[in-house]
Amino acid sequence: TDEPLVLGIETSCDETGIGIVRGHTLLANTIASSMDEHARYGGVVPEVASRAHLEAMTPTVEAALAEAGLKFSDIDAVAVTAGPGLAGALLVGVAAAKSYALGLGVPLYGVNHLAAHVAVDQLEHGPLPKPCIAMLVSGGHSSLLLVPDVAEDVISLGSTVDDAAGEAFDKVARVLGLPFPGGPHIDRAARDGARAAIAFPRGKIDDGTLDFSFSGLKTAVARWVEAREASGESIHVPDVAASFQEAVVDVLTRKALQACRKYDVHDLLIGGGVAANSRLRALAQERCDAAGVRLRVPRPGLCTDNGAMVAALGSDLVAAGVTPSTLEIPADSSLPV
Ligand code: KG4
Ligand code: ZN
Repeated sequence: TDEPLVLGIETSCDETGIGIVRGHTLLANTIASSMDEHARYGGVVPEVASRAHLEAMTPTVEAALAEAGLKFSDIDAVAVTAGPGLAGALLVGVAAAKSYALGLGVPLYGVNHLAAHVAVDQLEHGPLPKPCIAMLVSGGHSSLLLVPDVAEDVISLGSTVDDAAGEAFDKVARVLGLPFPGGPHIDRAARDGARAAIAFPRGKIDDGTLDFSFSGLKTAVARWVEAREASGESIHVPDVAASFQEAVVDVLTRKALQACRKYDVHDLLIGGGVAANSRLRALAQERCDAAGVRLRVPRPGLCTDNGAMVAALGSDLVAAGVTPSTLEIPADSSLPV
């Protein structure tokens, strides 16, 4: 085909992700993660992440080219996450993308990380319905978006007013003595627990907004555990995990379907690391079926931060004829959608 080959670069957090696509065909998706270096701090350390991106950039790009069986000179456009994310981490990706675009003499596209999380689903499930509602839930963001057109028009409907959903998973996991990042561990522990064992609060559930709040829930779990420990009672971790998880996914799915109803949209996309959660997937499917909404969730490797999502959005921008970015484009840690 004569669709352009797009290289995508993602460095907004701890993952150095490089993707190569042609149109919506995924040719390579390579990742280097510095998570092992952050785990002992119980959270991502920005300075450590930036340094790791710098070290990983060239080898990860070379691995992607090798995976796709391509040469550098085959690349027709470069897309990079310009924000939101960790400022120093973003800077490494943006600087690399500028050098590659300049050296190759190809257009550069600075893209929004959240829009890229939406665009990536097309690599697996084909073109996005227009419009769709997207819910992005990860360690760094929890957002509801109305997406008339991912390349041109993405509208924020609501987001967390405090912790992100994944952050709540990670903090509660710490309270329960589970390793970081805690989401997958809570998911696993919850399988042996009772979802209704403990009635934890559902923040903002019927407040009429499409915003989220998870810090009250996190505090409620911590208090509950502290109270049991203080009185010498033992804690059944699976019950706490299942009850906490149910509170999160109940709110997420209710708000997502409220958004679908409010905007009369019948397609819901869920992305971000928390979209890997088995209970979120199951409850979302159940509630979408009941509401006549079609659900799209990319496979886990495309839900977590990666370069393919940036390449996918870059490809859409090329196809839509959007004007490329200049070499002056900044990394913007709080870039709005
Ligand atoms: O998208 P991601 O890889 O990175 C960003 O935060 O941008 O998301 C990571 C987050 C972490 O908070 C992790 O605990 C959470 O996603 N996570 C999960 C699951 N797998 C990853 N949360 C709940 N259940 C899971 N199965
Ligand atoms: Zn992300």
